[in-house]
Amino acid sequence: MERRKVLRLFFVSSLAAVIAPKLSFAQFNQLEKLDFSSLDFGTDFKWGVATAAYQIEGAHTIDGKSPSIWDTFSHKKGTIKKGENGDIACDFYHSYEKDLDLLKSLNMTVFRFSIAWSRILPNGSGTPNQSGLDFYHRVIDACLARGIEPWITLYHWDLPQILQDKGGWKNRDAVVWFSEYANLLTKTYGEKVKNWMVFNEPSAFTALGYLIGYHAPGLKGLKNYLPTVHHVCLCQAEGGRIIRKNVANANIGTTFSCSHVDVFKSEERDGNTANRWDVLLNRLFIEPALGMGYPTESLPILRKLNKYIQPGDLEKLQFDFDFIGVQNYTREVVKANAFIPYMKGLEIKPVKRDAKEITEMGWEVYPEGIYKILKQFAAYPGVKKIFVTENGCAFPDEVVNGKVNDTKRIDFYQRYLKEVLRAKKDGVNIGGYFSWTLLDNFEWSEGFKPRFGLVHVDFKTQKRIIKDSGYWFRDFLLSP
Ligand code: BGC
Repeated sequence: MERRKVLRLFFVSSLAAVIAPKLSFAQFNQLEKLDFSSLDFGTDFKWGVATAAYQIEGAHTIDGKSPSIWDTFSHKKGTIKKGENGDIACDFYHSYEKDLDLLKSLNMTVFRFSIAWSRILPNGSGTPNQSGLDFYHRVIDACLARGIEPWITLYHWDLPQILQDKGGWKNRDAVVWFSEYANLLTKTYGEKVKNWMVFNEPSAFTALGYLIGYHAPGLKGLKNYLPTVHHVCLCQAEGGRIIRKNVANANIGTTFSCSHVDVFKSEERDGNTANRWDVLLNRLFIEPALGMGYPTESLPILRKLNKYIQPGDLEKLQFDFDFIGVQNYTREVVKANAFIPYMKGLEIKPVKRDAKEITEMGWEVYPEGIYKILKQFAAYPGVKKIFVTENGCAFPDEVVNGKVNDTKRIDFYQRYLKEVLRAKKDGVNIGGYFSWTLLDNFEWSEGFKPRFGLVHVDFKTQKRIIKDSGYWFRDFLLSP
């Protein structure tokens, strides 16, 4: 009886799979009647994609590049799923012309990318590597030739290994190294590039790389994390000052990974836990830049930062950014737990709390979260303008007859964009939206499995296929 029931269920579902119409992209687009268009965001609103050097470039030893912490880390056993690494990645180093053609064909006009520090300064500091400098000149020129604005991130997580060997961000000399690097980049490219971001998501790279050891350089514990936080905060502001000094008419920002934090139950204990997580995830790096100091009141363990703060530092942490880059993927739901050191609470994973939709990263699809976090960041008096510098999702895509019908991703973008527009209509000064990302790429410790791109990449052949989500953006950006 039981077996028959199972068989019947199996039969019904297979039959349904056979007869259910496979939604083609054209059909999908007709079915989905959006009640907004790209023009609702304003004619001067910027649309683009964001990328990062280590995730796409490959060419890890070419033309004088030295290893970064990600080259070292990804070659260590047990660090990356399936033992993968970014040695070749999307081979963007050699295919940037074609990839920028693809971007252009999607009607996007911004290419956000980062510079690999160890391509430019193989010794971390000192004599620059001309081949490295030339590569980014070529990328910038290729953007400009296509009418695409290059937006540069100075640092997206790939510190030269040679500097890590001297302590990396933990060493206060990092401020000197970073200043030299920022000076070199802005003096070299400042004539052609006007849009600059100092860091990509400091809360992510400091916590993942220097507190829990899940990312490069794989260090753990507060003794690594706290000095790193302070030195990165000093560099965040110093980087801003250097760009201001060297680049005429620069638009200067820095980006933050941010997630709205909700409580599991509406209990007071959970509320306090949410405040602590909010500090760690959202407030720790922006507040010092705004002149508010470190948010120690809500997370007392941060008082230990005092050990690394020198006279005059608190002023040096401030910089008047032209814009803030908000990067959002999901929300966090937390619950009090007295046994967890310092945070006194835990994140409840989406699978454990019946979240309705979950991406391949295990993150909840929660469009309202981007609205809430945009409002939260816009509420800071010192924040003048916001760009959504990353938003996107990974789903298991399939190539069928040379096409990728990624309806879930289209649905994700439509719903998140609607919330961005809602925040804009509420008065949040949002200047643009950059999708994460153009190409499927090396997703850090997760390897190549999670695919975030608007363009599918076959990592064996380097063949690119524009996914239906890419075509959706193309049409949306032309839509009346
Ligand atoms: C990072 C990207 C990363 C993406 C998806 C962002 O936090 O800036 O480098 O690939 O999230 O995980």
